[in-house]
Amino acid sequence: MARKMIAMVRLIDTSFPSSAGVFPEGYHEVDCSTCHRGSVKPETKAPQKFYNRANSMGAPPPPQNPGVSLKVLPVETRVHGAESLMGEFRDALNVDCGYCHGGDRPLQVDVNPRKDIARKMILLVRQINSKFPETGVFPVGNQAVTCYTCHRGDPHPVSLSNLRYDPPAPKQ
Ligand code: HEC
Ligand code: HEC
Ligand code: HEC
Repeated sequence: MARKMIAMVRLIDTSFPSSAGVFPEGYHEVDCSTCHRGSVKPETKAPQKFYNRANSMGAPPPPQNPGVSLKVLPVETRVHGAESLMGEFRDALNVDCGYCHGGDRPLQVDVNPRKDIARKMILLVRQINSKFPETGVFPVGNQAVTCYTCHRGDPHPVSLSNLRYDPPAPKQ
């Protein structure tokens, strides 16, 4: 299993131009620690929901119109409101909708390059899950790895290559 994981980490590296060298040599955006975080079974669901001002003020749920500009997600994907897949993206990165969308521009507009990065991430999640038994094509069905598995509330996930260390506690 660990051998398969090494091959998977090397394959994931090909999605990140900033990764360099063949794992474990070099710099890697994603390594074992990115998903496992000290646990045999990586987590897939954010423990906290991110609520924006409208959500927290109890605004009524938005109308569930089907997407009109979806290039990779199935057209029937639920994309509106805090309980939608978009809400999961928001929880996974701990950002608001505007982080990937365009401020006050309509949500179907492609002005923010992060939207295309997120599309590539959807394809990456599909590629990773295809390595695990009994998983569906993201976001449909059971998923071994989700956006949250790597991101854990951070737009730039942790790996051993980019881990930040706090200074030692001052001596008493
Ligand atoms: C993209 C996320 C991801 C990365 C990166 C990753 N793993 Fe995993 N790993 C998983 C998932 C998901 C499982 C399945 C857990 C389950 O469902 O039981 C798993 C399972 C395993 C298991 C089997 C655990 C068990 O008891 O069945 C081992 C061993 C393992 N990983 C080692 C590694 C090592 C070593 C690396 C780095 C070379 C690594 N993994 C990198 C996601 C990842
Ligand atoms: C991590 C990036 C990211 C975040 C955060 C995000 N989105 Fe999206 N959103 C996308 C991507 C990527 C697509 C297009 C997917 C595709 O092409 O299949 C999309 C598509 C949509 C669409 C479909 C537009 C249409 O009609 O075609 C809506 C609506 C939407 N998002 C709403 C939201 C809302 C509301 C939030 C906040 C709760 C949010 N998004 C947060 C990346 C994001
Ligand atoms: C296998 C681990 C992994 C998974 C799974 C993953 N990401 Fe990422 N993502 C990364 C890494 C690593 C980066 C940082 C890359 C860099 O800076 O070069 C990143 C960067 C991003 C960025 C750009 C952030 C910025 O500010 O530049 C967005 C947006 C994003 N991911 C969205 C998503 C979404 C949405 C999903 C789920 C569909 C997802 N990611 C799943 C590893 C992952």
